[in-house]
Amino acid sequence: MTAGLVDVTAGVQVLAQEGVVGMPTETVYGLAARIDQPQALTKIFTTKERPFFDPLIVHVASPNEARALTSEWPLAAEVLAQTFWPGPLTMVLPKSAKVSDLITSGLQSVGLRMPAHPLALELIRQAGSPLAAPSANRFGRTSPTTAQHVLQEFGSQVPVIDGGPCQIGIESTVLRMQSDTSGKTQLQILRPGAITLPEITKVLVENKVDFSVSESLERAVAPGQMKHHYMPDIPLVWVDSRKQMSLAEVTASLQAALASLPETVEGVRLKKPTAPLQRPAALKLESDPALAARHLYSRLRELSQSGADHLVYVHDSTHTGEAWEGLLDRLKKASHLVFE
Ligand code: TXA
Ligand code: MG
Repeated sequence: MTAGLVDVTAGVQVLAQEGVVGMPTETVYGLAARIDQPQALTKIFTTKERPFFDPLIVHVASPNEARALTSEWPLAAEVLAQTFWPGPLTMVLPKSAKVSDLITSGLQSVGLRMPAHPLALELIRQAGSPLAAPSANRFGRTSPTTAQHVLQEFGSQVPVIDGGPCQIGIESTVLRMQSDTSGKTQLQILRPGAITLPEITKVLVENKVDFSVSESLERAVAPGQMKHHYMPDIPLVWVDSRKQMSLAEVTASLQAALASLPETVEGVRLKKPTAPLQRPAALKLESDPALAARHLYSRLRELSQSGADHLVYVHDSTHTGEAWEGLLDRLKKASHLVFE
């Protein structure tokens, strides 16, 4: 089987033979399979070691292609697709019969997104099928933002299309959309990302779309929203700058906490060094949230391989607000311990 870096044409062949392909997108790299091939879809889960209860996002090359996979396409979906696609917005809508339970983990809804990367769009178009793709990392671990990251993650198991480093750097905003009894669309952010709720609501208001926003994030509708996710290979500690803890105190607290942390949380294995912690590395982020997000995952990977045995992120408490939300959500879930 083809492995290593491949072009779009070779990628299409792999997909046609029930294989999976590493696909560049503007957010993170995906592990793609055709939605009409159960064997290939199963391969996504087994390759990632991902539990079957975590649904996959379906990637399309146009809003019309997305609409064909839904049983309901409210005006809000049309307006948001026309405004934000191609781009880092996934809309969760009632699914049509064309979308299998394997993709949605048995849910009656499907996550849909048109990615803003020319090679992803080319792959979907040439394949002639929408492509289901989660992020191309082992379950619970840091998502890949370069083709090399995907090769490091899966080795010769998975051929990868190299589309360069991802521009956004964290996964898409996931927005659930449901019609209430009066036909009004209810919106709920299941996962924050580069496209924020105020940006979404502004566009809907401008287009005179009737909608409401639901704040609560119910676990049952967001099966992939786990407490620990995106984890680097060495433990990460988050400390709020206002805490004024010394580095030595942080290290000692992590050391003391390691023993009492569980081995796994929601199926994700926690990395627990057995030797005493001695070599911290500081995770530093740009003060521009878009740049910080772009570099977050590659920086976590680099620092994990730098010889350090734990990572310390001192959170600048002025970095708050909608623009930081997606990034801080990932960082917090990647952390073993949070002091705030
Ligand atoms: O940016 C992205 O979204 C990347 C690139 C590759 O497109 N993909 C990605 O996929 O992050 P993944 O599988 O790592 O995250 C998808 C998450 C799931 O964990 C789940 O929380 C949510 O999207 N999701 C998908 N379908 C859903 C559904 N029907 N209902 C609720 N949540 C859903
Ligand atoms: Mg993921």
